[in-house]
Amino acid sequence: MVSVTLPLTDTLTETAASTTADTLTAPGEVVHAADSPDAPWWRDAVIYQVYPRSWADADGDGMGDLPGITARLPYLRDLGVDAVWLSPFYVSPMHDAGYDVANYRDIDPRFGSLDDADAMVAEAHELGLKVIVDLVPNHTSSEHAWFRAALAAGPGSPERARYVFRDGRGPDGEEPPNNWPSVFGGRGWTRVTEADGTPGQWYLHIFDVTQPDLNWEHPEVVAEFHDILRFWCDRGVDGFRVDVAHGLVKREGLPDWHGKVGLYDEVDADAGPTGEGRDAQQPHSSAGEVLDHTATGASPMWDQDGVHEIYRGWRKVLESYGLPDRILCAEAWVTPAHRLARYVRPDEMHQAFNFDFLDAHWDAGALRTVIEASLRSNDDVGAPTTWVLSNHDVVRHASRLGLDQSLPRPNGIRAGDPQPDAVLGLRRARAATALMLALPGGAYVYQGEELGLPEHTTMPDSFRQDPTFHRTSAKVTGRDGCRVPMPWVKGAPSNGFGPGDTPWLPQPDAYADLAVDQQEGVAGSTLELYRALLEYRRKHRFGHGSLTWDALSSDTVIALRNTAGDGERTLLVITNLGADPVTPPPGEVLVASGPLTDSGAVPTDTTAWVRLPVA
Ligand code: NOJ
Repeated sequence: MVSVTLPLTDTLTETAASTTADTLTAPGEVVHAADSPDAPWWRDAVIYQVYPRSWADADGDGMGDLPGITARLPYLRDLGVDAVWLSPFYVSPMHDAGYDVANYRDIDPRFGSLDDADAMVAEAHELGLKVIVDLVPNHTSSEHAWFRAALAAGPGSPERARYVFRDGRGPDGEEPPNNWPSVFGGRGWTRVTEADGTPGQWYLHIFDVTQPDLNWEHPEVVAEFHDILRFWCDRGVDGFRVDVAHGLVKREGLPDWHGKVGLYDEVDADAGPTGEGRDAQQPHSSAGEVLDHTATGASPMWDQDGVHEIYRGWRKVLESYGLPDRILCAEAWVTPAHRLARYVRPDEMHQAFNFDFLDAHWDAGALRTVIEASLRSNDDVGAPTTWVLSNHDVVRHASRLGLDQSLPRPNGIRAGDPQPDAVLGLRRARAATALMLALPGGAYVYQGEELGLPEHTTMPDSFRQDPTFHRTSAKVTGRDGCRVPMPWVKGAPSNGFGPGDTPWLPQPDAYADLAVDQQEGVAGSTLELYRALLEYRRKHRFGHGSLTWDALSSDTVIALRNTAGDGERTLLVITNLGADPVTPPPGEVLVASGPLTDSGAVPTDTTAWVRLPVA
């Protein structure tokens, strides 16, 4: 365990919050000090996200599964990551791709069995990989035994008390208890029909109607999740990615809210019950804007102070297992960085996804500001910073960075939308990843980004499964385009995803040439770039290193020095977002995200790692 004694105040320093491009630390002064050489595994881990439906399909039913994952684990060892995080594989009706859990202690038959899960964990450990599983505590599926019991038991029952049931407003209770919308569009409340056939109470679902929110003030809910943590720790998992970690506690009294709500796109609290009237063409706001405490004030459904006590309890459960540490990583779309850092205080979670980094535009000033603010905020609480560019909820960065950077990040891209510039997007994505993997802390890699996979931007609507698409009457495209099955072997059925010809989502034509077998051993391929970056990062322990800005930094250039965790090497990282090539000082170019100029300069949209001579 890390033993850092730090104040557990709720008011962390405001310095990080006020980091702007104008207040960045001067070149040569330490922004972030190196980690101790014997720091625990998770402080610099690179964690690879597997989306089980779409990684590898062993039985040929068109959907990925645990035996498929187990068979492909050597690929991850060879890639050079430290751990794998699996999105949910639990029993689920799959109304939100498994984030609607009907049984937290069993595997959905589509993915396999508990024996398959045990075999997967054992094989990962054999290969030296840790395993992180997804935990979904904000809501269950409406098919969970507790929710079924709640519906059957009726108003005022102990069964209903585990969820957020309320009487409606208006003379006959026909209006929902408050005006909260669902993140996926439409109302955040649904009225039930009671056993006697009469219209009854309403239940809260911040997400889909099939995802009723749990009542985290109820001791049985708290105890149940302690037990679920133990169930999976006893099976050998090394940690948990915590879904919607900022949402479990709602403000007392559930007051109306007229601000923004969205996690993935702009959802207006005053939109109509089905989301009609919302302008699908308007730019979507980033989660940062939505949840910025300084800009909009805290919404009553996110980032309430009460969530922290829950995670203090979980930390104790995990620590009872001793060494090596088992970890918690918060999926919390919370900004600014010093609010997010409250989730990773020494007695809470270990990591939190850094979505400010993912949300930053391809702009040197914006990126430097986010990098510095993130490091300073996490340093304030003694936690490592994490870095992430893609996941199963956002447009893949190889496509996102090929879009007009003056517009906010969209929630999905469809054939009729402005299409990303694929060449530009991939060039920038490679540069962004090379920047990310040079930064101190942990990093998350989303399956297929190591192949440079683009978003599927022309998927026919008939395939779409994201509840956002359906709940907004197709006004918001949603996340299916980033969840398309992996191409392993060009020309094989479903490009080697599995023996069947028809994966659950269709692959775009571009995936064949990007298949693993087309890139393995090919100099300059994106796969070999990732392997090289990960190898150097691990060898020189750059994840444990320190960070200072280099004097080459400018409005269009990010230049940083990472004095590596091995204490011997200084890495100069240059990411050039400007038009003019940047000439590095003398040193050895370890790796570059694209070709350098004939004179060895770093051209636009390129990152180079330069090992400086020992002074
Ligand atoms: C966040 C998950 O990443 C997302 O996929 C899911 O839809 C929501 N939480 C609801 O569980």
